[in-house]
Amino acid sequence: MSGSNDHIGGEARRYGNATIGEAAARLRAGGLVAVPTETVYGLAADSTNAAAVAEIYRTKGRPDFNPLIVHVPDLEAAKQLGQFDELAICFAEAFWPGPLTLVVPKSGNCPVAAAVTAGLDTIALRCPAHPVMRELLRESGLFLAAPSANRSGGISPTTADHVARSLGRAAPMILDGGPCEQGIESTIVAIADDNYRILRPGPITAVQLEAIVGKPPILTVTDQIEAPGQMLSHYAPTKPLRLNAKTAAPDEYHIGFGLISGDRNLSPRSDLAEAASFLFAALHDADASEMPRIAVAPIPEDGIGIALNDRLGRAATPE
Ligand code: TXA
Ligand code: MG
Repeated sequence: MSGSNDHIGGEARRYGNATIGEAAARLRAGGLVAVPTETVYGLAADSTNAAAVAEIYRTKGRPDFNPLIVHVPDLEAAKQLGQFDELAICFAEAFWPGPLTLVVPKSGNCPVAAAVTAGLDTIALRCPAHPVMRELLRESGLFLAAPSANRSGGISPTTADHVARSLGRAAPMILDGGPCEQGIESTIVAIADDNYRILRPGPITAVQLEAIVGKPPILTVTDQIEAPGQMLSHYAPTKPLRLNAKTAAPDEYHIGFGLISGDRNLSPRSDLAEAASFLFAALHDADASEMPRIAVAPIPEDGIGIALNDRLGRAATPE
């Protein structure tokens, strides 16, 4: 996987004890390391080192008003950086380590460099599950700021090769842990005033979040985009929408998948990528149809299906 990268930039090294040690040393010295997580590859640096953080922005070509996620080994470490109310603790205990980022108020003595939070009084924190990232956190003893390891605006990397190609000559040392399992970035949830908002859809679905705290997220319509994927209200059709419908009532427009044909089938051959590409067109059709309600067939909670279900979860009528 790493063999063909030499001419592109970066040094992709297969994950091993020696490489983790070297990567940790580079980070402690203020360098950058690209590292796999369960979602996408991250471009990591010591979040308390202003120069190292500036190097992340420079390497990605990222605008400095777009804040970074800080990765921590556990909730205890997260509490040093951010203020966790009951709701935030509930989410952290349920989904960490895992693909959930929590945006919470910064702690009073937060040691993170100002550029990480781009001047906001909140901080985005994530405890990742990937063994390589976890080992790097442990070995370095640092809180690691890590955006996705791609040029700003580019496609997120899910292999070491993607990182090398996206960052080109600017690519730092790359820990090659193989392809990322989830393939899409973490769900970002902002916590405030005992409520939560989904700022970015991801592998942890709205349905999963609601099940943990027993109340739905607030769907605010705002002009201010705090994170990509925040403007989600347009996903929702005007009609009531029911999920996991193997059959439909006579007054329901049925969106099918696989063997469940429905009025329109997202993918008769059960291809989730194909289904994702047709989902919104199908919802438009359903909304424009004569039926007063919409039903959607079960979509496997797998691969791109997780993101698909996340969008459907927010399009669905709360029960
Ligand atoms: O899965 C992931 O989250 C990956 C891996 C590497 O952990 N990271 C990632 O980072 O996707 P990045 O930088 O590509 O996306 C971070 C997002 C940005 O959209 C940023 O606006 C948002 O998090 N963000 C960071 N701090 C925030 C804050 N205080 N308030 C609102 N949004 C914030
Ligand atoms: Mg990104």
